[in-house]
Amino acid sequence: MHKRTGLPDPKVVIALDFPSVSRANSFIHQMDPSICRLKIGKELFAIGGPAFVESCIDKGFDVFLDLKYHDIPNTVAKACQAAAKMGVWMLNVHALGGRRMMEAAKEGVLQSSHQPILIAVTILTSMEEGDLRDIGLQGTPHDNVMRLAKLAADSGLDGVVCSAQEASDIRAEIDRNFCLVTPGIRPRDADVNDQKRIMTPDEALKAGSSYLVIGRPITQAKDPIQALIDINESIKGM
Ligand code: C5P
Repeated sequence: MHKRTGLPDPKVVIALDFPSVSRANSFIHQMDPSICRLKIGKELFAIGGPAFVESCIDKGFDVFLDLKYHDIPNTVAKACQAAAKMGVWMLNVHALGGRRMMEAAKEGVLQSSHQPILIAVTILTSMEEGDLRDIGLQGTPHDNVMRLAKLAADSGLDGVVCSAQEASDIRAEIDRNFCLVTPGIRPRDADVNDQKRIMTPDEALKAGSSYLVIGRPITQAKDPIQALIDINESIKGM
């Protein structure tokens, strides 16, 4: 028997990177909403749609809807409002959509009776300095991440997606309760997969992360619930 103790604010957000609703559901069936949250991205949303998101919420899970909206302000505001109405816990937009787009996104969320946490993606971690120059952005990815994180904060957003390496710099720059959501997390003994710069769950929280997005170390584990329990144990009380 696995020992599970409910957590007041589970830090682990499991990335549901599954190619079908049935595969996702057989995984979710083993999970417990009192000790983790779920992230649903573009692939699974395209397959399962709002019905799948709502089924996760009905099972008691907090859902981070990772659709990274980037469009004209009015369209993004309406999309955020629609996502908020679904009852998601968190959603995101691209900071590169600009201040007016982010302000409109926040306004869309505020007009809903249920208000999810609204965060921004700054620079995709897949982009290097040369890629930024190609689209007309000067400076290093880090410079751009810092500038866009500040813009997201000034535009009224609740936080950003960032690497754990960036978390302490962002915490030092942004002087308010800002939510930092970090992927690229690997427990000490886990396979690195294709992630480049990784941190362990406890290192990431010490660096200032608020929530940890973790996929394969849990979804591909032989015993997923035990992998989750072990991660939670490693960050107990943090
Ligand atoms: O399996 P793994 O733990 O690497 O999954 C991490 C999740 O976080 C995936 O859904 C991936 O798309 C997402 N992500 C990431 N790096 C970013 C942004 C999102 O790994 N910079």
